[in-house]
Amino acid sequence: MSTVDDVKQKIDIVDVIGQYVTLKKAGRNFKALCPFHNEKTPSFMVFPDQGTWHCFGACGTGGDAFTFLMKKENIDFGEALQRLAQRAGVELARERPGEDAERKRLRELLAAAAAHYHYLLKNHAAAQFARDYIAKRFITPETSAQFQLGFALDDWHATESFLVGKGYSIHDLEAAGLAIRREGGGHYDRFRGRLMFPIRNRNGEVIGFGARTLTGEEPKYLNSPQTALFDKSATLYGLDLAKDAIRSQNLAVIVEGYMDVIGAHQGGFKNVVASLGTALTEKQLALLKRLTKRYALALDPDAAGEEATKRGLQVAREAADRKDVPVPIGAGLVLVANRLEAELLAIPMPPGKDPDELIHEDPGRWTELVNTAVPLVDFYFRALTQDLNLQEPRDKSVAVERLVPVIEEMSKAAERAHYMQQLARLAQMPEKMLEQEISARRRLPRVSMRQRQDRPVAPATSESKLEEYCLTLALRTPQHLARIAFLDEQDLTDPIYRALFSALRARQAEHFDRDAFRAHLDPALGPVCDRLLQAARNLPELTEPDLQREIETASYRLRLQRDRNELAQIEVMLRDRDEERTASDESLLKERVALLLKRVGETQKALSARTLFKPRLLGKTGTI
Ligand code: UTP
Ligand code: MN
Repeated sequence: MSTVDDVKQKIDIVDVIGQYVTLKKAGRNFKALCPFHNEKTPSFMVFPDQGTWHCFGACGTGGDAFTFLMKKENIDFGEALQRLAQRAGVELARERPGEDAERKRLRELLAAAAAHYHYLLKNHAAAQFARDYIAKRFITPETSAQFQLGFALDDWHATESFLVGKGYSIHDLEAAGLAIRREGGGHYDRFRGRLMFPIRNRNGEVIGFGARTLTGEEPKYLNSPQTALFDKSATLYGLDLAKDAIRSQNLAVIVEGYMDVIGAHQGGFKNVVASLGTALTEKQLALLKRLTKRYALALDPDAAGEEATKRGLQVAREAADRKDVPVPIGAGLVLVANRLEAELLAIPMPPGKDPDELIHEDPGRWTELVNTAVPLVDFYFRALTQDLNLQEPRDKSVAVERLVPVIEEMSKAAERAHYMQQLARLAQMPEKMLEQEISARRRLPRVSMRQRQDRPVAPATSESKLEEYCLTLALRTPQHLARIAFLDEQDLTDPIYRALFSALRARQAEHFDRDAFRAHLDPALGPVCDRLLQAARNLPELTEPDLQREIETASYRLRLQRDRNELAQIEVMLRDRDEERTASDESLLKERVALLLKRVGETQKALSARTLFKPRLLGKTGTI
């Protein structure tokens, strides 16, 4: 079997593609929003059995794991093979004999190139604007020398001429990533007219370059390709200069950019390295492992929060626990957390500020931010609630809704308890109440079910029956959904009903098409939806106004039930003497009671307006 086939067989395409897009199970296969074009409904499919993927939408592309990686990472087949082989644990053909000599020559070549570029930056007339630029960025000559910043002339063969003059072959230049072979024959310099940032390994040996445009050309940074020496995913920029400080401070601060590292070091913060702007990998963290187990990531809370919300919390959940999984953190960053037994901290950056700018403007602020770094999970707690006003009851439940799944994901009870407390504090809710809320999310506790049934309430025998009835009516008469706008998905307790309800809400009610709705539905909801659709068909024939009144009535009843249930729960809590309950917890509970009572009154009024007979069945609110 060829190496390629071997790799192909050993990798799981779902695993490979799953690193880039959130895949949803669809039968035997998986679907997602296509990563190669913009779309709102998923038309990108992955077929694990065949090991292939295809976009049935606008771009119509497809292929296997190799083509996916090549397209997504913009790399060639060789590099894709290397990466996938590594993933699959397949060893590619052993390095040839004489490899060591070749590597040594490449290292010398790159060192010579870096020295040459640095010389040009300092001395060449054509580099004046580059000198002006670094001065404008507040980089001192000392810093420029320390990082050996350089300049590549805007010429197709200048680097080549210089290095060939030094005795290197064009083949060496190509292998070092400095020259590019032309299809028709011949070569040209990769880096032209750019500010050069030599990238060095932990021993300080130059292994590649990042090259910044000074004229607004794309890309902003052109980097060396993968070579025998340079593996971007196993390199941290600045590590050679940062390692002592990282060890002595027992903390590695990880930023995104070259300029951020340079700015930090110049500002005296020497424990800073950069992830080269892409995914922070396990290999990168492994480089730090011997120096420290404490890593702090400078993150933009806006971007990270958005990312986390967008991906349906997956990000934060994974940060919260799970063993050996890649943890995407913020804009395109991924790391593998637990295998390293690392302590992962987040440094929330002020929005729109690079570490570089911030340090230049106010170095004290940087110290402050680093000193107040928080565990990554806490960071996500904040990021996921920063768009909420936690004084508002509605926003409180949104916060609970978003964060509880994260907490439930944690494997250690002690951790869960800790974060439960944290959430209670954040949402300014007594912890007890939070727990109630959570068990209500799962299903109502047995006792209170019985209590409620003893009372003469709405005809449905249980909350979930009533939820089911409301949904059935909604499926039957989606045109009346707007009439029950008061009903929130939070009013439903069953998670499947909830999901169905919000899916229904999200659809255009005027042109509602049941088949289309069913076809686009998350497969997990399919069976329940089918059952309810059948029930909707079985509803007795009713006139439009009757249907309308029925759905309104059922929805009000549902809300009434839910509010009453919560009132009963709070009542029990208030009756229990709880030493740990503070006065402010108590007053919060009472506020909630007042709010619920008010709403119960309103709901009853709405109900009696819609019921022909006086609603004797609905009883009185005075039970609490
Ligand atoms: P930034 O765009 O934040 O750049 O990308 P920067 O380092 O802050 O540079 P200035 O301040 O705008 O000059 C962060 C990092 O992402 C990588 C580089 O490593 C860069 O430092 N990057 C960015 C690329 O490799 N290619 C690009 O085109 C852009
Ligand atoms: Mn910057």
